Amino acid sequence: MQDFLSKDQRKWLEDTFTRLTKKISATSVRVGEQIPYIAQNGRYTEDWGTHDIAWWTNGFWAGILWQMYHATGEEQYKDQARITEERLDRALEEFEGLHHDVGFMWMHSAVADYRLTGEQKSKVRGHHAANIMAGRFNPLGKYIRAWNWDMAGWMIVDCLMNLSILYWATEEFDDPRFAAIAKLHADTTLEKVLREDGSSNHILILDPNTGEVCEKPAGQGYAEGSSWSRGQSWALYGMAISYSHTKEDKYLEAAKRCAHYFIENVSKIDYLPLCDFRAPEEPVIYDSTAGACAACGLLEIAKYVPEEEKDFYRQSALKILMSMDEHFCNWKEEEDGILYYGRVAYHQDEADNSGVSIIYGDYFYTEAILRLMEKDFYIW
Ligand code: GLY
Repeated sequence: MQDFLSKDQRKWLEDTFTRLTKKISATSVRVGEQIPYIAQNGRYTEDWGTHDIAWWTNGFWAGILWQMYHATGEEQYKDQARITEERLDRALEEFEGLHHDVGFMWMHSAVADYRLTGEQKSKVRGHHAANIMAGRFNPLGKYIRAWNWDMAGWMIVDCLMNLSILYWATEEFDDPRFAAIAKLHADTTLEKVLREDGSSNHILILDPNTGEVCEKPAGQGYAEGSSWSRGQSWALYGMAISYSHTKEDKYLEAAKRCAHYFIENVSKIDYLPLCDFRAPEEPVIYDSTAGACAACGLLEIAKYVPEEEKDFYRQSALKILMSMDEHFCNWKEEEDGILYYGRVAYHQDEADNSGVSIIYGDYFYTEAILRLMEKDFYIW
């Protein structure tokens, strides 16, 4: 357990870790061989391996299982994670549905397996995914294209979180090409996607022949020029990850700017993350997934800043996690989904705004608790 925690925080963390392990253990029995995404009526019933094997969230369940395997040593988590990993082979074979989120899909499944067990087949899967990621790089605009179809000029802030697979490939195969692409993309994000006040755009549409910025649409946020909180959390954690691999100060400085902006906004409402920090006051729409990801990013930033700055990031992370525990967490073992009040996008059809449990919210909440327990596996 981290030594900066107060007595009350230690007690909260111990209790939360116990609840988390029981909840994931019960959920894993119900999920079985499925690949979960969004819980409906307290159950992760829909299998996204069947629905869409190339779906961007399909690695997060394996990520939870590898984190739990690392934290507890229980073999069933490893065996279950490998079921997802093997199912994802079809996405590699089909290839055409794949996108910039191959980092989320294979860092949390195959690369985690390889790093924790040395499994050689898993290393090949990760290498394959890294090559797909590198193949999406546009050298004319110095960015990794996000999606397919007619979107050759689209880059998005989310992609920062997927650069890990490129950094990993350079470190693993002693080949600088991959990290060079990651850095060029991170630099273009710094220059064009992030704003000077520490907030971030979600999407940029560039001229794919020149890299000139043509449009900055709303994406999953409220409107053009607004501030989608999950995008903000991708920015702050993503820049911290680029710093962790490169040690280039500009990435840590950017991560801190994004973090300060995030903290200032959540501090106004009991450290609960709105879905968009620049949306109208009513209706109140939260996105717990942004809070969980940001908390992990804040704990990552705290590793690199001078001693006297660390507490600001750690305590902000704790305030977010503890407030979300009080307001958003569901610890009932008979129901799936840890973190309620997740939101896929600001504008969506659902009639009520109470949100849902989404697998990446559960992943980041789990990672954050394990980080505080010093039992996490650095998957990035
Ligand atoms: N990467 C897509 C999202 O955050 O919803």
